[in-house]
Amino acid sequence: MMNSGSLFEVYQRFDFSVVHGDGAFVRDSQGTEYLDFYGGHAVISIGHNHPHWVQRLQAQMSSLSFYSNAVDLPIQEEFGEHLRTLSSKPNHRLFLCNSGAEANENAIKLASFHTKRQGILAFSGGFHGRTSLALAATDNSTIKAPINHSTPVKHLPLNDLEQLESYFKTDGDTLACAIIEGIQGVGGVYEPTDEYLTLLRSLTQEYGVVLIADSVQCGYTRSGEFFAHDKSSVIADIYTMAKGMGNGFPVAGLLISEDIKPVKGQLGTTFGGNPLACAAGLAVLEVLEKENVSENVKQRGHQLRDGLTKVSFVKNLRGRGLMIGFDTPEGTPTIRERLLKEYQVLTGSSSPTILRLLPPLTVTEEQCDQFLEACYDLDQRL
Ligand SMILES: Cc1ncc(COP(=O)(O)O)c(C=O)c1O
Repeated sequence: MMNSGSLFEVYQRFDFSVVHGDGAFVRDSQGTEYLDFYGGHAVISIGHNHPHWVQRLQAQMSSLSFYSNAVDLPIQEEFGEHLRTLSSKPNHRLFLCNSGAEANENAIKLASFHTKRQGILAFSGGFHGRTSLALAATDNSTIKAPINHSTPVKHLPLNDLEQLESYFKTDGDTLACAIIEGIQGVGGVYEPTDEYLTLLRSLTQEYGVVLIADSVQCGYTRSGEFFAHDKSSVIADIYTMAKGMGNGFPVAGLLISEDIKPVKGQLGTTFGGNPLACAAGLAVLEVLEKENVSENVKQRGHQLRDGLTKVSFVKNLRGRGLMIGFDTPEGTPTIRERLLKEYQVLTGSSSPTILRLLPPLTVTEEQCDQFLEACYDLDQRL
């Protein structure tokens, strides 16, 4: 049913309704199947309605669907243990919340509590969410309301080593945190170099600044590493996570270094860490481990990138694992629109000419071939 006017409409929507999901496919209300290389903004990690995820959620729902953090919820402890083991961050602790913006909001606030400072360092092209502090750190003035302009934030150009070093020399001791994506999503699939991340880590350590690794989109194995930042061998003070964490069930969280001590009452949430969210999160981790998903991400990533090098409309191919971006020619309809209408393939975008591929991490070789065949065919017809 199309919007009859009852919704406060802020979205540019595709003109079809999705009513069913299964693995790497969704179906619309007319019964047409779409190959989903978008996952509703990188959310679908283990595939739509993965049977283990469905079973875990159903079992949890029939025992306890909700209680708040006023009581001990053993499933949270189980989630935290599993997460820090699989992410190889054995000394970080988990705080659970509900969305990516909320995770970054809490991370920045925690950094300010910890350092007793106010400054935020963020980077050109960065996106961190739409709540106050997360939005202040985001490099997009068009989505900031007048009230969002009062937070002291500095945006530096990504990968400029000299500017980074000189900024820390003059302002390093005013900063509470530096926040950086391991691979920028909304910004167009650009990433900090290993050298840049290593320098950022050493400067933040030297000046007592909390390093926040925004892993909301690039984390949770999407790059092939558990966190995209892991490739540079830096260990951040806080990792923020959301999107793929619950495979569509709203779950988000922070993994926080043991150097930052928890203080009762400083952070809090009603819904965060509820039993259903933990069950969804555990189901994802169990599948990531049991199905050796990180290996699949690396192999399918190579397959897609190799295949895409043969497509002439693909320019400046970039990204890692199953977070792939490229530039496409301008035109109406766009390449993204043509893939959708003519080949029933859903993709993401960072702008009308930048395509972002975010398939489920469990996508198969055959499904990647199906995507590539669509690109080859479209290429011939351009
Ligand atoms: C890197 C990054 N951080 C934060 C967010 C905000 O997440 P949410 O929409 O769940 O608030 C996003 C969303 O796209 C994101 O890509």
